[in-house]
Amino acid sequence: MLVHAITPNTSYEFATDVRAGLARAGQKELPSKYLYDDVGSALFEVISHLPEYGLTRADERLLQRHSRDIVDRLAGPVAVAELGSGSGKKTRQILEALCSRQLTRYYPIEISRAALLMCERELSDIDCISILGFEREYLDGLLEVAAHRSKGQHLLVLFLGSTIGNFDRPAGIQFLAEVRRILQPGDSLLLGTDLMKSNSQLLAAYDDELGVTAAFNLNLLARINRDLDADFNIAEFEHVAKINHQNRSVEMHLRSMCRQTANIRAAEISVEFLEGETIWTESSHKYSPEEVFDMARATGFRCVAQWVDEQWPFAENLLVAE
Ligand code: AVJ
Repeated sequence: MLVHAITPNTSYEFATDVRAGLARAGQKELPSKYLYDDVGSALFEVISHLPEYGLTRADERLLQRHSRDIVDRLAGPVAVAELGSGSGKKTRQILEALCSRQLTRYYPIEISRAALLMCERELSDIDCISILGFEREYLDGLLEVAAHRSKGQHLLVLFLGSTIGNFDRPAGIQFLAEVRRILQPGDSLLLGTDLMKSNSQLLAAYDDELGVTAAFNLNLLARINRDLDADFNIAEFEHVAKINHQNRSVEMHLRSMCRQTANIRAAEISVEFLEGETIWTESSHKYSPEEVFDMARATGFRCVAQWVDEQWPFAENLLVAE
């Protein structure tokens, strides 16, 4: 097994994005990808075990139950690329199903080195795979994977856990179109999508009783303090989850509980907050089962199969590049 993690210099980009998101007029915002430093990735792992947050377990159950069927629908020799490998637990099902018919190359693409290493450890006992990991942004990583593929080999891209839900709808479509452009006809994309559910279920999932999601969200400010030499008073911010009915999404915000100023030295800015003002840190869009077929069609794929969990509305969708 081979792990090959390339560390890009991301701290300059982080400072630039923080400055752009906080120095702007109107709604302050921070890109949700920055929630996942080592602490944030570990907190998300805890979230996925909370009773209120059924998303990850639904994803795991579907892969547990249907991996054979999924793999049987793929033609020829297949290499697997995963956008955001997380812990690698879900991927095991797919890789084991594939390994019963072929030696399998697995390319996890992950911005968190800790998550990449965790995934390597989790999957290292499968002996018919070779792992080549990329510590990269999704599309950059996928471009490299596409360059590595051998002739006649198809790619199966995994984009699980409804990570696509972090994009707003137009950006989600654009992302799928960009993935499609990197792929060849006959390649496939296994896409996990969280489905619409009741308001009370959504609010509980994104504002759990124990406060783990609150810690996950507040960690973004702690990370800015750590990485960008800032002085956010974390005790004076609170986690807020709210439903955006128009966008069919749940939003996470950090609300300033008083009038205050934060200095972010590495970004060379001071940011003022009014009492009650928020920083928008994440959106999680929710889908209808039919919508996924339309998204596939609009981006050069065909959704050839869909599996829906019975306990938590969530769908696994197999898209084939046309
Ligand atoms: C990992 C992006 C799917 O949006 O549900 C969990 C992240 N945020 N709780 C989601 C998250 C708050 C999660 N995704």
